[in-house]
Amino acid sequence: EKGGYEHFMLKEIYEQPNVIKDTYRGRLLANTGIIQMSGVEDNIEKFTNADRILIVACGTSWHAGLVAEYIIEEFSRIPVEVEYASEFRYRNPIITSKDVVIAISQSGETADTLAAIKLAKEKGAFVFGVCNVVGSSISRETHAGAYTHAGPEIGVASTKAFTTQITVLTMIALRLAKVKGTLSNSDYFRYLQELEIIPEKVLEALNTNDIAKEIAEKFKDSQNCLYLGRGYNFPVALEGALKLKEISYIHAEGYPAAEMKHGPIALIDEKMPVIVIAPKQGHYDKVVSNIQEIKSRSGKIIAVVTKGDTQVKELADYVIEIPETSDALSPLITTIPLQLLSYYIAVLRGCNVDQPRNLAKSVTVE
Ligand code: F6R
Repeated sequence: EKGGYEHFMLKEIYEQPNVIKDTYRGRLLANTGIIQMSGVEDNIEKFTNADRILIVACGTSWHAGLVAEYIIEEFSRIPVEVEYASEFRYRNPIITSKDVVIAISQSGETADTLAAIKLAKEKGAFVFGVCNVVGSSISRETHAGAYTHAGPEIGVASTKAFTTQITVLTMIALRLAKVKGTLSNSDYFRYLQELEIIPEKVLEALNTNDIAKEIAEKFKDSQNCLYLGRGYNFPVALEGALKLKEISYIHAEGYPAAEMKHGPIALIDEKMPVIVIAPKQGHYDKVVSNIQEIKSRSGKIIAVVTKGDTQVKELADYVIEIPETSDALSPLITTIPLQLLSYYIAVLRGCNVDQPRNLAKSVTVE
């Protein structure tokens, strides 16, 4: 059942090229410039007339929501807010019938997310679900939705659910951009084509397996770890840190790279591994100067860079090379080596990777 892999988590990491394809199959027709998702199409005016989109979720799904915030705002120019479902449900949120709420959940059973949906419905909002489990409570409770089609995710640490959630949300952003005319035709087509070949790039990114293993050997006994990224890759830094915490029990924190100087830089010494997401597109020069700041304080730098990078290579202790993508789609690629790194660190520490202590796959209690 693990298909020859030692753990479900590794199997699910490796399934990503295929499941991302399953997620966009029949929905994304890059050559003709069509994106068709019935749940979106049937409610297209609700989306395009929305004053704002509010995303509610927990854990990794919340991180996918943060990535979506950047993508939806950039592509379709609709204001987006992302909130932990557990906070939203208890703070008497301001929400009206002009709001669209997107609830993201792999299991479709998360109690806090379900409660947030019920509250949003009471206040008259249109609620759209992005779930993986077909027929789950959240998929039934929402007005409409789109499944991720990632197949069963058994490992408690969410991997393929995250990348397929981002895939669905990117397609929604592109569809809204097309209707609203907020992306140029050439950008629109370019993104569609790029999304279509993302599975090939994810496959290539899985080649970081060996270097991830090597880095894991070096840092498996660390007590702390910092993850830094900017823009679209800030949520990826949060997700990288969460993955490490939950399966290896190493304390880790994700930060927007520029926030480092407002506090976390005090933690940096020769014992602190800092994982920096520094692809060529995006805020590259800014991230390079953040890397210099870490280096001058003797932090150990592990950098995720675009293939062929030279500048960061000179500064970093280890580089992990990934294929080039546009900034907006890069989270689908930068996430891959971080999943592998957490996986190998946890394995080397002898942790129960698929069933980490104190965690459950579906959090059906608040
Ligand atoms: C992280 C993880 C959890 C879940 C969270 C939400 O790897 O598994 O943080 O992401 O409990 O679960 P769903 O997406 O099922 O609502």
